[in-house]
Amino acid sequence: RPKITHHGNAATAWHALREEAMGCTRCPLHRDTTQTVFGEGPVDARLMFIGEQPGDQEDLAGRPFVGPAGRLFDQALEEAGIDRGRTYVTNAVKHFKHERRGKRRIHQTPETPDIQACRWWLTQELELIQPRIIVALGATAGRALLGKAVTINRLRGAPIALENKVQGWITVHPSYLLRVPDEAHKVEERTRFVKELRHIGEQL
Ligand code: URA
Repeated sequence: RPKITHHGNAATAWHALREEAMGCTRCPLHRDTTQTVFGEGPVDARLMFIGEQPGDQEDLAGRPFVGPAGRLFDQALEEAGIDRGRTYVTNAVKHFKHERRGKRRIHQTPETPDIQACRWWLTQELELIQPRIIVALGATAGRALLGKAVTINRLRGAPIALENKVQGWITVHPSYLLRVPDEAHKVEERTRFVKELRHIGEQL
């Protein structure tokens, strides 16, 4: 399929798609959120990252990966020599699924129906952007990408052949790296993540 790049078509279509997603009521998750957090990045990006869902800060800002996990992600990308501004970053689920405890909003992991309802948007993002490489960050993104439950440790480290010669990669979610309890192990896991990103960047 020829990729539309240097004319306005893809960008116009992307803006229309985002606009439509801002009013999404396809599933109940929109009810108790600030806004849809749609993907962002250039429409001709060759590398796409898929996260899980917006967190508290993303819900407020309306942008993906701007909270604590996002900061780690930004640092890791920089160390891996990847310019985030040239990548497309999105989430499997575009509304913040959470429960309220007092004033706090506690993250809830999206389940299969949430992922399936939101696949509507991810599918259209994939069709518009047509990335050559797609990186799923964590199990939810992996499930959204492959349509089945994934075991990260079994799949990470090697590309998965997708339709139209697209390379898929599955790796850990940055917030996993924030949660590793043992400090030495945390450093190891972070290093492994950066190495993986570097390796993926070299495939472009
Ligand atoms: N975690 C995600 O998976 N996505 C975000 O946008 C933020 C945190």
